Amino acid sequence: MKQSTGITVTLKAAVSVDGKIATGSGQSKWITGDVARRKAHQLRHENDAILVGINTVLTDDPELTVRSIEKGRSPVRIVLDSKARIPEQSRVFQNDGVPVIIITGNQAPSRSWPERGELKIIQAPEETPDILWVLSELKNFGLKSLLVEGGSLIHASFLKSNCVDHLALFMAPKIIGGQDSLSWCGNINVENVNDACQLDISSITPLGEDWFISASIK
Ligand SMILES: NC(=O)c1ccc[n+]([C@@H]2O[C@H](COP(=O)([O-])OP(=O)(O)OC[C@H]3O[C@@H](n4cnc5c(N)ncnc54)[C@H](OP(=O)(O)O)[C@@H]3O)[C@@H](O)[C@H]2O)c1
Repeated sequence: MKQSTGITVTLKAAVSVDGKIATGSGQSKWITGDVARRKAHQLRHENDAILVGINTVLTDDPELTVRSIEKGRSPVRIVLDSKARIPEQSRVFQNDGVPVIIITGNQAPSRSWPERGELKIIQAPEETPDILWVLSELKNFGLKSLLVEGGSLIHASFLKSNCVDHLALFMAPKIIGGQDSLSWCGNINVENVNDACQLDISSITPLGEDWFISASIK
């Protein structure tokens, strides 16, 4: 049953038709084309915050800002990073005045952090931040909507926590294939197909050469 958290959560991913978000070597730029990426920036603009897992920062070093949208407003940037591994030079720390929140676990080593205004380091009460706990903390910051941009493990954790409202999948007419390449959602403990997470697809819209699939969790 959907947990009521007070935050509207949207999982977003750019995927191939076989559901992959990266190649076996972790390379993911760019699966979708310009039109889809512009819509993705629109989604960022519409949400109060964006959240990613530390592996995505280490692999892609994303800026997590809003670009190519007129009067676009960049949301708060959040990274789940149990062991405080995020490099100081990561692009999420750019000095653009947008708040950044790093959430570590309670076993994270002490370390130095970039000298930056609007940087909050929050330590979870457990080794790996629990998603429902994270959402309750974010609510204290007045955040009402969250765009979760992956990767695979983070999406799986959100789905397992039953706190997801919407899915925003940008699907490219490509096959990446491979046993080692990540799909957009990691293990969610589905043994029987009857137990699969069921979706209500509200729309499928062409975006340039790609497709935008908007869905909610049943
Ligand atoms: N195509 C796309 O749309 C897209 C989007 C994003 C990423 N990607 C790709 O996805 C890949 C990375 O995905 P990934 O699955 O390896 O990693 P990820 O989901 O980005 O990060 C997972 C890591 O986050 C940390 N974490 C902290 N709290 C967590 C929690 N409650 N649940 C799960 N993880 C938590 C864990 O590391 P610690 O234990 O160290 O904290 C965990 O290993 C990259 O190749 C990237 O290019 C693609």
